[in-house]
Amino acid sequence: MNILLIGSGGREHALAWKLTQSKDCDQLFIAPGNAGTSGCGTNLNIGVSDFEGLKAACLEHQVGLVVVGPEEPLVKGIVDFFKADGALAHIPVIGPAAYGAQLEGSKAFAKAFMQRHNIPTAAYAEFTADNYAEGVAYLEQHDLPIVLKADGLAAGKGVLICQSREEAIAEFEQMIQHAKFGSASAKVVVEAFLDGIELSVFALTDGKNYVLLPEAKDYKRIGEGDSGLNTGGMGAVSPVPFADAAFMKMVEERIVKPTIDGFYKENIDYTGFVFFGLIKVKGEPFVIEYNCRMGDPETEVVMPRLKTDLVTLLVSAAKKELDQVKVEADARFAVTTMAVSGGYPGDYGKGFVISGHDANLPEEAVLFHAGTTEKNGSVVTAGGRVLALTAYGNTVKEAAELSRSFLGKVVFEGMYFRKDIGYEF
Ligand code: AMP
Ligand code: GLY
Repeated sequence: MNILLIGSGGREHALAWKLTQSKDCDQLFIAPGNAGTSGCGTNLNIGVSDFEGLKAACLEHQVGLVVVGPEEPLVKGIVDFFKADGALAHIPVIGPAAYGAQLEGSKAFAKAFMQRHNIPTAAYAEFTADNYAEGVAYLEQHDLPIVLKADGLAAGKGVLICQSREEAIAEFEQMIQHAKFGSASAKVVVEAFLDGIELSVFALTDGKNYVLLPEAKDYKRIGEGDSGLNTGGMGAVSPVPFADAAFMKMVEERIVKPTIDGFYKENIDYTGFVFFGLIKVKGEPFVIEYNCRMGDPETEVVMPRLKTDLVTLLVSAAKKELDQVKVEADARFAVTTMAVSGGYPGDYGKGFVISGHDANLPEEAVLFHAGTTEKNGSVVTAGGRVLALTAYGNTVKEAAELSRSFLGKVVFEGMYFRKDIGYEF
């Protein structure tokens, strides 16, 4: 079968790496891909939301399965587009239709869904310009800290944790009255702060059945010891030592099953990955957010630990037969460390030549490309997050040390990476 994978990050390189290990993957196409995915298949210069361009590619290359990496095309309705087109309707697409993608695209939609299905999450209220005064009154009596969330997609920047009511009210005004996050903050979810440790849990569902993939923990802050600005993710660890069997049983019973049952009961068309952004508070799991895709950089540790054939899993999901497959995971730890461009997550340059990335790595290490591209015969940086080096080990420490020692062999101008991924384990 020919497969089209949509996206261009480290997540997509990890998915491409895993897809091509399957005997059922004939040709792999990646749109638009990066300098790493070109080693797994054929990159196509088509944007992730260029539905007409993706359609033409599917027909030209006789694609039999489409895998959507990022949220944007899902929220914009790529699944609906394929289903409504006579020439494409037969091609399964891994990802939810636009209605289900609102679990990520609208925080208010996700909160209401959780409330309907009794899924544990922080208490909340939602406000727009229409009930703005009520919102201010709500904030004036709210416990501290106060979490404000822009309802819509805001490139990962739409969540503010305010330490005082004055700050919360000022930010609330900026979001609703002055479009701080554009139309994404026309509606704001105000949420109670949950104090705990976070982890990411992943399911693949066919809308009725599901399988769990290995869980992971990502490191969002730019600085060591989890300090400084939030980023897209600076590294990840899988498995997560504090997610023991008893905790994961609670996660499945209280969160995963009710979510998938909710899709089924509400007739939500969902064949794809569900990313549960969870927090463990006093031993119990709560949902911080849903995403309708895999995580990045979590995928760079989840795929290396997945022993089951990924194409088999995806085809089973498309056929609504996920009750007939089992997921097997590598028992070892996998740790990934992300190399970023100097200045990230603020302004950074692009086009820096990368060297040392092509050195031979041992069996227990894999280099995934994120923001890279090929230019005049060299691999150059093309984004803030540039490369993710994943290594296996029998302990987090062993895997983390290998990850950073191999990443240290790579060089580009301004390169930075955290040297403490997995530090607390
Ligand atoms: P999100 O964009 O929803 O992933 O939120 C970004 C980050 O904000 C999360 O990863 C958490 O670290 C933090 N966060 C979001 N909601 C809450 C909450 N209710 N309590 C504590 N931290 C939160
Ligand atoms: N690593 C978090 C995310 O992919 O949203």
